[in-house]
Amino acid sequence: MDKILVLDFGGQYDQLIARRVRELHVYAEIRSCRKITLNEIEENGYKGIIFTGGPNSVYDPASPTFDKEILELGVPVLGICYGAQLIAYLAGGKVESAANSSEYGKTTVYAEKDPLFEHTKEKSICWMSHTDYISELPSGFRRTAYTDKCPCAAMSNEQKKIYAVQFHPEVTHTEIGKQIFSNFVFAVCGCTPDWNMDDFIDRSVEKFRDELKGKKVLLALSGGVDSSVTAVLLHKAIGERLVCVFVDHGLLRKDEGDYVEKTFKDRFGLNLIRANVQEVFLAKLKGVTDPESKRKIIGEEFIRVFEQEAGKLDNVQVLAQGTIYPDVIESGKGDSAVIKSHHNVGGLPESMSFEKIVEPLRDLFKDEVREVGVKLGIPADLVYRQPFPGPGLGVRIIGEITEKKLHILKEADAIFREEIRKSFPGKEPDQYFAVLTDSRSVGVMGDARTYGYTLALRAVDTDDFMTAEWTRLSYECLAETSRRITNEVQGISRVVYDITSKPPGTVEWE
Ligand code: XMP
Repeated sequence: MDKILVLDFGGQYDQLIARRVRELHVYAEIRSCRKITLNEIEENGYKGIIFTGGPNSVYDPASPTFDKEILELGVPVLGICYGAQLIAYLAGGKVESAANSSEYGKTTVYAEKDPLFEHTKEKSICWMSHTDYISELPSGFRRTAYTDKCPCAAMSNEQKKIYAVQFHPEVTHTEIGKQIFSNFVFAVCGCTPDWNMDDFIDRSVEKFRDELKGKKVLLALSGGVDSSVTAVLLHKAIGERLVCVFVDHGLLRKDEGDYVEKTFKDRFGLNLIRANVQEVFLAKLKGVTDPESKRKIIGEEFIRVFEQEAGKLDNVQVLAQGTIYPDVIESGKGDSAVIKSHHNVGGLPESMSFEKIVEPLRDLFKDEVREVGVKLGIPADLVYRQPFPGPGLGVRIIGEITEKKLHILKEADAIFREEIRKSFPGKEPDQYFAVLTDSRSVGVMGDARTYGYTLALRAVDTDDFMTAEWTRLSYECLAETSRRITNEVQGISRVVYDITSKPPGTVEWE
């Protein structure tokens, strides 16, 4: 399989670069410039190398850099933003501060004839974000693009197959970005588009069948996308020897525990143990109102139950985890095996020791995980489900959690989700749910006075959940949701809609 190395110099778009390459069905992996050596790069046989952007200035001695021999390996290189400046600097050119002519945002770029710009327009819009610029080209390089303010927006050394762009082709605002990656990966590097999820499944099944021969493997299945895909994939490889423990703490959405059990046990024939421990969790949470204490109790209790269930099994040698590529990158830039610090498995007690840990999805981005899920036949509503916090409804009930409140919230949340699905038949908001506040208010129903809870509805649109915009739900959707909830769910006398974006609000209320 052909591989492209994305050499990370601290850029904020490094994952996006790797995704753009993978969208072309070529495998790309991100490695930190501080954690990979020239030797390793040579040994790994990459077909091309992409230098990412970064916040530094190449002339600052503390900035990340690389052995300049990398430009002599004969492997094609594409530098982006800081990466472009670094190429100029390493190859003997000059980089200066563009104090008065820095560029930020959409900028018109004029491109000249060059393999990198094949099949692109001469004049196009690109995304710029720089304060330094290449003021003097290294020898052997030719300018291939410019803007009104930037004399060298791109340069190349065709003979050595080294290319550099000052703008960001990975960002969708750059009109010719996709074509640039395609030109680099196929025409310059000569890659074959052989990265696809069917092959990934076949390769993984073969690999784990072999690697886990005769071994018993344990997995904490939450019903979320990552652990579900991990489970079905491993089950395909080792069948019965995969044991999934599903801790149902009772803080899941309405009927979710049954749905997860039915799907994986009946439909996929998984060896699944469901620990029904709602009472245990409710007892631990009795009287607790502080949000952080609730999270802590739920997390600790989860691990305790998981450990207890695992203890009942004989001879488990391997632990499987649903770690995915962004988890790997964020916790170590792809260099070491890290145990996902997730409430499900994070902080496993030392007493639980395993011969080894397997993470079948550790090379995949979320959209690739979903594609694998679909190909494995996991139902679409499970594969494309919205995120759900580990502590579940525990952080959506303000104040003390009781069985009665849980029941009220589950019913109301189910109605809201039904109404959203009706009013957004295609693209639903990225996350939406109900929150049971601790505030009560007076209402009237029939001739009687009521004194019920106030329920808040929350819906957000977001790309990454780091920032989010509240969804402009239609009045019809809000009206019908409110009408149904106040009619159908006993205990709620008022419904409000949360119109706070993030920041300043968080997505969850607690
Ligand atoms: P916040 O509330 O921080 O949420 O804006 C951002 C996203 O993270 C989810 N979330 C969690 N997920 N364990 C999880 O697995 C947690 O403790 C947790 N807290 C928040 C939240 O649902 C949203 O998608």
